[in-house]
Amino acid sequence: MYVAIMGYGTVGSGVAALLKKNHELIRKKSLQESLELKYILDLRTFPGDENESLVINDFSRILGDDEVKIVVETMGGLRPAYDFVSACLAAGKSVVTSNKELVAAKGKELLQIAAANNANFLFEASVGGGIPVLTPIIQCLAANEISEVAGILNGTTNYILTKMFDEGADFESTLLNAQQLGYAERDPSADVDGIDACRKICILADLCFGLEVSPGSFTPEGIRNITGTDVCYAKALGGVIKLIGSAKKLDGGKKVAACVSPAFIKNGSQLANVSDVYNAVLVRGDATGDTVFYGRGAGKMPTASAVMADVIDCAANFGKTKAFGWSEAPEGYVITDDEFTSAFIVRAVCGEDRVKAAFGDVKIITFDGAPGDETAFVTDVICKASLKKSLADLGEIRSVIRVTDY
Ligand code: HSE
Repeated sequence: MYVAIMGYGTVGSGVAALLKKNHELIRKKSLQESLELKYILDLRTFPGDENESLVINDFSRILGDDEVKIVVETMGGLRPAYDFVSACLAAGKSVVTSNKELVAAKGKELLQIAAANNANFLFEASVGGGIPVLTPIIQCLAANEISEVAGILNGTTNYILTKMFDEGADFESTLLNAQQLGYAERDPSADVDGIDACRKICILADLCFGLEVSPGSFTPEGIRNITGTDVCYAKALGGVIKLIGSAKKLDGGKKVAACVSPAFIKNGSQLANVSDVYNAVLVRGDATGDTVFYGRGAGKMPTASAVMADVIDCAANFGKTKAFGWSEAPEGYVITDDEFTSAFIVRAVCGEDRVKAAFGDVKIITFDGAPGDETAFVTDVICKASLKKSLADLGEIRSVIRVTDY
């Protein structure tokens, strides 16, 4: 059986390297007499690379080659990835991808094309890098009613926040460092503005709840505005700030609260100790309670591991479509920002008396060296519409950070 890789960047080259390194065990687990890489599609050339002779720039050679049964898509982006993947599936080839943008936007449709052509469309690597999380949700937790899924879904931002917490490092230099280590997306805004985490929580919600949460249905918030002062308040309150993606069923599953934002997590929570590039995904099932999946959420070889596991699955089950997917959600399934309910840490430029007049007897937070012109406090659990109304009675608002209960 032959495999092709589309996109020879960090992940694609990792996939080729892993196939070579662990070739015999991968072949055996694939239940194939042979499992070989035949093409690498990329517009660039790679002089001196050990796979240089496999590099092509014409997609039709992969599509038209009946010997290629499995195609790995590690190009990223929506186009032309979507066109290539849908064409491969329609031709009965199975496709494995690490491309969360593609899965979040087009996963439902691509799974349908795969099923109609006895092929598979698998994407374990699209969430949590090397962490096995999607397959356990689809298979091992299949008997659970899942009420909530949440996690640290972006390695780059977790790396930056960890350095800010542990070393007092500044945002810009840590981002540069993350890019050099190969963690960050081509466009760092996808990481730091929460877009990457948004795609991942959408995929998780799709699989956990069976109804589509599209990335455009809510606005993610990133970590650009988190400052050293926010870090000090979080420490004083006994916790950390993490970029959290979460999706929670409401009204017995008729609605969902989906969110990506910086969030306060108290020390002792399973998510609080997830540092550096590590990710963790918490799944709340009615039979299991909370299960947490933890590991390297980004990077060449961990992500290649997840891709290659899907390749093995496709090869071993060739011609048999795995039964999973999600349906279109009714209008209004994702609640609005105003309806979103949580406790919040607020920093407002005013005195304690004004805070208490607007919010009642809330918990005030302070630390040695805290800015003298502001009051920081923790609200009760309220909806964002009420929060905004009460905040209007205070002075300038310096930050609002949600507080989780994980
Ligand atoms: N840029 C992503 C991250 C890569 O930092 O998590 C893995 O999806």
